[in-house]
Amino acid sequence: MKGIILAGGTGSRLYPSTISVSKQLIPIYDKPMIYYPLSVLLIAGIKDILLITNAECVEQYKKLLGDGSSIGIKIEYQAQERPRGIAEAFILGEEFIGDDEVCLILGDNIFYGQGFQDCIDLAIGKKGKARIFGYPVNNPKSFGVVEFDDNNKVLSIEEKPDNPKSNYAVPGLYFYDSSVIEKAKLVKPSTRGELEISTINDMYLQEGKLDIVLLGRGLAWLDTGTPRGLLQASDFVSIVQERQGLYIACIEEIAWRNGWINNEQLEKIGKKLEKTDYGQYILRLLSYGDKKKRRNK
Ligand code: DAU
Repeated sequence: MKGIILAGGTGSRLYPSTISVSKQLIPIYDKPMIYYPLSVLLIAGIKDILLITNAECVEQYKKLLGDGSSIGIKIEYQAQERPRGIAEAFILGEEFIGDDEVCLILGDNIFYGQGFQDCIDLAIGKKGKARIFGYPVNNPKSFGVVEFDDNNKVLSIEEKPDNPKSNYAVPGLYFYDSSVIEKAKLVKPSTRGELEISTINDMYLQEGKLDIVLLGRGLAWLDTGTPRGLLQASDFVSIVQERQGLYIACIEEIAWRNGWINNEQLEKIGKKLEKTDYGQYILRLLSYGDKKKRRNK
């Protein structure tokens, strides 16, 4: 399975903070926003990743993440000329995806909570179709909205509807087969001039190939679209980390637990960051002796 992170866009709702910096590089508490969606791909066991962003930001991301080899993964980069819409990710990523299945995550989406791994595993297991998620929100008009029956059969998908048919938003995490590439090429710009991801989902729905996994109330899907959303997300991360002493979206930890880097590699990264709590946390992982908890991916 391949992974794509879409981290372009104008970030205009966060101006002036995002005039000179890519939105997905600004920090959520103690790490860049991009770490959060990246950590979701790593948790899903995806090692082959394409990061799509604005041409002028590619170098900033390369400086942060390099080719991914320091955490045992492979990251490639692709520029998006202008924000033509989320569905363009599959046109830009055509060669990268090839005949594989692909997971797309939006660079500003943060997920955290008990049972999330199980939800991802459930979605990964259903190959050959589209797999999206549903999450209850109190402002469905701002999202893609899914309508489904009592058996979780999807009935409709609408992008930012004036009259939402449910309060279930579709978060920015999607799993598809490789037919998504050809579908993306057929998408026409919406009234807001974008190639909408909801149109792709509707195409799968018409083919009878759209599955939904509902995310439970114990799971957090956080919005980072506004200054207030950023602050709330930062507070959330800080509170959980301080209380549990366990970090959210520590990409090095996940890579290590997946068996993609060894103790020496982890220690090297921890030492480089040792002036920070983040680095100290990484070093502590080794001394806790909780290597037993490593998962094999
Ligand atoms: O967050 C989930 C929602 O994301 C979904 O419920 C909607 O169905 C989906 O359309 C999308 O809605 P938004 O209006 O929130 O999308 P936005 O334009 O804010 O873009 C989401 C992220 O993708 C953002 O970090 C910027 C990036 N992006 C967006 C576009 C349109 C790109 O990198 N390139 C693009 O062309």
